[in-house]
Amino acid sequence: MTRSTAGAALAGLAAGALITLLLWAWSADHLPWVSAESQPEYGTDTSTRRAVLQTIRHRRTVRRYAPDPVPRDDLVAILDAARYAPTAGNQQPWKFLVVQSRATLDRLKDHALTWYTERIRQSGEVRAQELETVRARVKEALDGALSAPVYVAVLVDTEASYPSYVVHDGTLAAGTLMIAARALGYGTGFFTSFFPDRQMKQFFGIPERYSLICFTPIGVPDAWPETPPKKELADLVVYESFGRS
Ligand SMILES: Cc1cc2nc3c(=O)[nH]c(=O)nc-3n(C[C@H](O)[C@H](O)[C@H](O)COP(=O)(O)O)c2cc1C
Repeated sequence: MTRSTAGAALAGLAAGALITLLLWAWSADHLPWVSAESQPEYGTDTSTRRAVLQTIRHRRTVRRYAPDPVPRDDLVAILDAARYAPTAGNQQPWKFLVVQSRATLDRLKDHALTWYTERIRQSGEVRAQELETVRARVKEALDGALSAPVYVAVLVDTEASYPSYVVHDGTLAAGTLMIAARALGYGTGFFTSFFPDRQMKQFFGIPERYSLICFTPIGVPDAWPETPPKKELADLVVYESFGRS
């Protein structure tokens, strides 16, 4: 196949996927409605609604954990919440790899230290004589980052029906998981840089078709961090148009 025919075939596939997605969205819109009253836990209880907003606001990235275990019921409730995240065409391309073995996490720590310091060395950004200091700092960060009792590698299936949307789906699932964990009193983190896709796949024997979105701890924080500075809402919101209508 020439490059142009391959390009045309790919464009055809993408267009095909888009049409299927549109058809799916249309048919989903014609599913039978359920009444608001049939969802009693999400009724008119304003304190519940405010609690949800508080949970979202108080979710924090936690980089050091207390040794307290996460009961299985809590873990299952958190994972179960994640699968209700929005997903393109309802494809749900998620796989949640749960890691709880301390021996495995300690081994991962050693590997991550090697991957990360090697990447820094190869980048040439740090002088050779500074590498040991950098390595000590990375080790300290990893000691904290990997101190939780539970980790979830949020993965997505790149062979799902709408592959161009799987990263969006995966990120939304991770976000939902983190908010659910916060609701139950746990810290989390959207950890990426210490845990590169290729090395994590090799370490955990993850099949090639999956892509790693993030590696998130779940645990009781050693201490809740302060909220980092957040931009003002007024700086983020534009109503109606940027100037032209
Ligand atoms: C795409 C993405 C990548 C991130 N990667 C990392 C990471 O590798 N290590 C880390 O400690 N935090 C990581 N974070 C967490 C952010 O640093 C954190 O969300 C941000 O500082 C705001 O803090 P908060 O989550 O407590 O509001 C990442 C977050 C996102 C969304």
